[in-house]
Parts: sequence; structure tokens; C-alpha cells
Amino acid sequence: MFIVMSIFFSYQDTPAFFSFPPLPPSEQYGNLLISRTSEKHNMKPVAFSHWSHRMHYTCRVCHLELEFNMQLNTTEITEEDNKSGKFCGVCHDGEIAFGHTKENCDKCHNGDISYGYEKFVKLKDFPKTRFGNRIDWTAAIQTGLIKPKTFISTPPADMSFDKELELKAENFLIPPAVFPHSAHVKWLDCANCHPDVFNIKKKTTKHFSMSFCLRGEFCGLCHLKTAFPLNDCKRCHPDMSEDIK
Ligand code: HEC
Ligand code: HEC
Ligand code: HEC
Ligand code: HEC
Ligand code: HEC
Ligand code: HEC
Repeated sequence: MFIVMSIFFSYQDTPAFFSFPPLPPSEQYGNLLISRTSEKHNMKPVAFSHWSHRMHYTCRVCHLELEFNMQLNTTEITEEDNKSGKFCGVCHDGEIAFGHTKENCDKCHNGDISYGYEKFVKLKDFPKTRFGNRIDWTAAIQTGLIKPKTFISTPPADMSFDKELELKAENFLIPPAVFPHSAHVKWLDCANCHPDVFNIKKKTTKHFSMSFCLRGEFCGLCHLKTAFPLNDCKRCHPDMSEDIK
């Protein structure tokens, strides 16, 4: 009991209990510089921002239908694919969004992690949160402020599953984490999480803990890089008394 209590108090008193990766400025959170092959071909790395794309499309569209991996520089995107209407070229075809013509190369190949900053500034009236993009994306989609498309050509199957799970840590006197399926299935397909990231049976996923999340596994797959970051304790542990920065 003593050990349990001391851990309980240490998370409250010492922000150093977990070490978080440093957060970029809000307009750069979720921005990527894709450079698996660009530089080898004397092209600058490709700028891609999650905030500008998720206003129009759910995660499912890119990470299931269009087969982009959720890990930087692992998808084998080529200029030829893009030009023939795959990957970025599904939308960057000169109709839905700017295409692959000479004058547009450096809209993508610019090596600028804050590319599009002036558009981010226009989102200042979006509902706010404290971390990440500092935009409450849950509220933005729930209130209909944004209506991202959920598919390009293959509509999702029934996505009405809305069970909320309480994930209680063993051996820790910590208010449980909640996992709301409803907030997730607005963005993601079941197949984005099941069975690769999480088992489909509650409390059977092994090594489910903050330290694994902080290494980018489980919840940390998305909640370090794109969805609100792990710093935002109360959004997952709603009964926690105070946030730790
Ligand atoms: C318009 C397409 C698109 C949308 C929409 C999109 N992503 Fe991505 N995402 C990408 C691309 C492209 C990459 C980089 C893949 C690569 O380099 O292999 C990526 C990478 C990622 C990564 C890895 C980042 C890293 O630094 O390793 C995560 C996590 C991720 N996306 C989560 C999400 C989540 C969560 C959503 C929905 C809120 C989302 N994505 C919506 C295209 C998209
Ligand atoms: C909509 C964004 C976008 C536009 C516009 C674009 N590219 Fe790319 N391009 C990419 C992405 C993403 C990759 C993959 C980058 C990587 O992994 O390094 C890529 C890769 C490349 C590569 C790497 C080698 C290969 O063949 O795949 C070359 C060369 C290239 N692009 C040339 C161009 C040229 C020239 C233009 C203008 C005519 C252009 N790109 C326009 C997104 C774009
Ligand atoms: C599912 C459709 C879709 C896919 C896939 C997609 N984009 Fe886009 N992209 C768009 C749309 C639509 C816009 C215009 C957004 C706007 O005007 O706000 C855009 C805008 C952009 C911009 C300009 C950002 C700005 O300032 O508005 C860049 C850069 C970009 N995309 C890069 C990429 C790259 C690189 C990829 C592939 C790795 C990619 N996009 C894949 C739809 C897509
Ligand atoms: C963002 C990730 C994510 C998405 C998307 C997701 N789930 Fe889950 N799901 C989880 C997690 C986390 C658990 C709990 C796993 C554990 O405790 O080991 C879970 C558990 C479950 C369970 C077991 C519940 C119980 O009480 O035992 C079912 C059934 C389930 N999911 C179905 C679905 C279906 C159907 C969809 C799509 C409509 C879906 N999930 C989408 C993350 C997700
Ligand atoms: C595949 C990506 C992904 C994974 C894995 C994931 N989430 Fe999320 N989660 C999201 C996205 C996207 C949102 C929408 C909010 C945002 O983007 O900031 C979200 C929202 C939430 C919310 C809603 C908060 C609110 O606004 O009310 C909670 C709580 C949450 N996640 C907890 C978890 C927990 C706990 C886990 C691990 C068991 C987890 N998530 C795993 C992508 C993911
Ligand atoms: C994205 C959701 C999410 C966020 C944000 C989050 N946690 Fe957790 N936390 C979890 C999950 C899921 C578990 C594991 C529950 C289980 O064991 O089933 C957990 C477990 C814990 C535990 C138990 C020990 C351990 O390592 O598993 C502690 C302590 C904890 N969290 C503290 C925090 C603190 C402090 C913050 C903010 C700095 C925070 N959490 C933010 C989801 C989250």
C-alpha cells in the first residue's frame, strides 16, 4: 500500500514522473516533412500538414482507403504514383486540389515545416484546448463546424459502435482512463485499431501503460503526433484533480 500511495503522490507532485517529448508550436503540431526519396533526387522534402487536411477528410480516408501508413517515411510514395492518381495524386489532380504541374512542385517540395501558417491563423475562432494544435477537434466535428469526408470511393461499414470503456490501471491509485469509441469512430475505421493496435476484448492488450504510450504505442500512436498529446491528462483521466504540464 505504501508503494502504491507514494507513486500516487509522486505523479501529483512531480511533473517529472513521465517525460514527454517537447511540443512544437501549435501550428506545427502534426506537420510532417516527408523525405524518404526526395532529397536523393535533389528535391526538397515534402511538407504535409494534418490540420489542413483533417478539416476536409477523416483519418480513415488516408490511413485506410489510400493506404498511407501511420509512420513517417514508410509509405512508398513516388512521383509516378502521384501523377497516375495514387497517394497524394488521388486529390492533387488539378481538380480537387492543385495538381502535379511544374508550377506546383514547390507547393509540396519546399522543406518548410510551417508551410501554410497563414491559413492556420484563420482557425483562431475554432474551439480551444491547451495542447497540440490547441484546437478541440472533437468539438469541431461534433458541432458540425467541420464535416470531413469519410471516404473517397469505398464507404465505411457500420460505424455506429459507441461503447465507452473504462481502462483502469492495475496497482496504481490513478483515476481510470476512458476510451470513448464514439469520439474515435467519427475519424477512424475499426480496422485502424483492431486487431493490430488493440485487441477487440477489453483489458487483453498486453503492456498497456503510459510508458508504452509515451514510446508511440497504443494510445501514443496518435496521441503524441496528431490527436491531442498525452500531456492533456484530464481528457483521458477525467477525474484527475489537476493537469500536469
Ligand atoms: C490527407 C491524408 C491524411 C489524413 C486525412 C490524415 N493523415 Fe495521417 N498521415 C498522412 C501521411 C501522408 C503521413 C506520412 C506517411 C509516410 O510518410 O509514410 C501520415 C502520418 C501519420 C502519422 C505518423 C506521424 C509520424 O510522425 O510518424 C500518424 C500518427 C497519423 N498520420 C495519424 C493520423 C490521424 C490520427 C489522422 C486523423 C485525425 C490522420 N493521420 C489523417 C496522411 C493523412
Ligand atoms: C501534392 C504534393 C506533391 C506535388 C505537387 C509534387 N510532389 Fe513530388 N513527391 C511528393 C511526395 C509525397 C513524394 C514522396 C517523397 C519522399 O518520400 O521523399 C514525392 C516524390 C518525388 C520525387 C522522388 C523520386 C520519385 O520519383 O518518386 C521526385 C523526383 C518528385 N517528387 C518530383 C516532383 C516534381 C518534379 C514535381 C512537380 C512537377 C512534384 N514532384 C510535385 C509530393 C508532391
Ligand atoms: C484526400 C485528399 C487529399 C490527399 C490524399 C492529399 N491532399 Fe493535400 N490537399 C487537399 C486539399 C483539398 C487541399 C486544399 C486545402 C485547402 O485549401 O484548405 C490540400 C492542400 C495541400 C497543401 C497546401 C496546404 C495549404 O497551405 O493549404 C499541401 C502542401 C498539400 N496538400 C500536400 C499534400 C501531400 C504532400 C499529400 C500526400 C502526402 C497530400 N497533400 C495528400 C487534399 C488532399
Ligand atoms: C482508436 C482506436 C479504436 C478504434 C477506431 C476502434 N476501437 Fe474498439 N477498442 C479500442 C480499445 C483501446 C479497446 C480496449 C482494448 C483493451 O482493453 O485491451 C477496444 C475494445 C473493443 C471491443 C471490446 C469491448 C469490451 O467491452 O470488451 C469491441 C467489441 C470493439 N472495440 C469494437 C470496435 C468496433 C466495431 C469499431 C469500429 C466501429 C472499433 N472498435 C473501433 C480501440 C479502438
Ligand atoms: C489511431 C489513432 C488513435 C488512437 C490509437 C487513439 N486515439 Fe484517442 N483520439 C484520436 C483522435 C483523432 C481523436 C479526436 C481528437 C483529436 O484529434 O485531438 C481522439 C480523441 C480521444 C478522446 C476524446 C477526448 C474529448 O475530446 O472528449 C479521448 C478521451 C481519447 N481519444 C482517448 C484515447 C485513449 C485512452 C486511447 C488508447 C486506449 C486512444 N485515445 C487511442 C485518435 C486516436
Ligand atoms: C490519450 C489518453 C491518455 C492521456 C492523455 C493520459 N493518459 Fe495516463 N493512462 C492512459 C491509459 C490508457 C492508461 C492505462 C490503463 C490500463 O492500464 O488499462 C493510463 C495509465 C496511467 C497511469 C498508471 C501507470 C501507467 O504507467 O500505466 C498513470 C500514473 C497515468 N496514466 C498518469 C497520467 C498523467 C499524469 C497524464 C498527463 C500528464 C496522463 N496519464 C495522460 C491514457 C492516457
